[in-house]
Amino acid sequence: MSTERTSYYQAGETRAENVRTLFDRIARKYDLINDVQSAGMHRVWKKWLWKLSQPKPGAKVLDLCCGTGDIAFFFAHQGCVVTGADFSTEMLKVARERSASDCRGKIAPEFLQADVLQLPFEDESFEIITIGYGLRNLADFDAGLKEMTRVLKPGGQLLILEFGKPDNSILRAAYYSYLNLAVPLFGLIFCGDMKAYAYILESLKHYPAQRGILEMLDGLGYAENRIENFMGGTMSINRAVKPG
Ligand SMILES: C[S@@+](CC[C@H](N)C(=O)[O-])C[C@H]1O[C@@H](n2cnc3c(N)ncnc32)[C@H](O)[C@@H]1O
Repeated sequence: MSTERTSYYQAGETRAENVRTLFDRIARKYDLINDVQSAGMHRVWKKWLWKLSQPKPGAKVLDLCCGTGDIAFFFAHQGCVVTGADFSTEMLKVARERSASDCRGKIAPEFLQADVLQLPFEDESFEIITIGYGLRNLADFDAGLKEMTRVLKPGGQLLILEFGKPDNSILRAAYYSYLNLAVPLFGLIFCGDMKAYAYILESLKHYPAQRGILEMLDGLGYAENRIENFMGGTMSINRAVKPG
């Protein structure tokens, strides 16, 4: 697939602005398309972030690229004190609207507008940082990981949920075909925007995926650095602990 297929993927200085425009544009349909394209499975993978981190009640959690808030709400329901951060005004609007209905009797997450590459938090502020389907979108993965490391407490956990790259070549070909053909079609049907969903495969091709991220976390000195693969590695979570 050539880069012309989606105008939303551009390397360089315009990358962040294109990504923000994309998510502002699809915000109202984002949750629906997530359910359709993953047959609801994204909820299961997001739940794994909690299963793997096992936070204590009251733990301070930062959910980056929080979008409409799925992961933030999930950790809040488990009794964590959650901050969700995202740079898309429209995605945050949906998250804040959901707060009233999704947080009955629990402490609602605080949602704020922020760029992952310049987080407005003091060093070592959070015990857990999650980022779901966000890292792949950053203009600079290394700078993003360093910024996360800065605001994570020593002994804290970093959990990265993303599309993966399966080792099995047949599975990888089938999965790339799905992302190349079916997913943009869902984008067209439900959102009137094929290019927004062709972006997923394009951005995945430029993303180092689970193994590359593992190496980058090793390089940053993380411990207990491991990969949890789902569905043959088409989805994955990198989990690592910042040394105390
Ligand atoms: C695919 S959505 C993921 C939303 C949510 N985490 C989920 O799993 O449903 C990616 C989100 O990352 C946000 N994003 C991308 N780059 C960002 C950046 N540099 N800083 C903050 N948010 C960013 C987008 O605005 C978008 O809401």
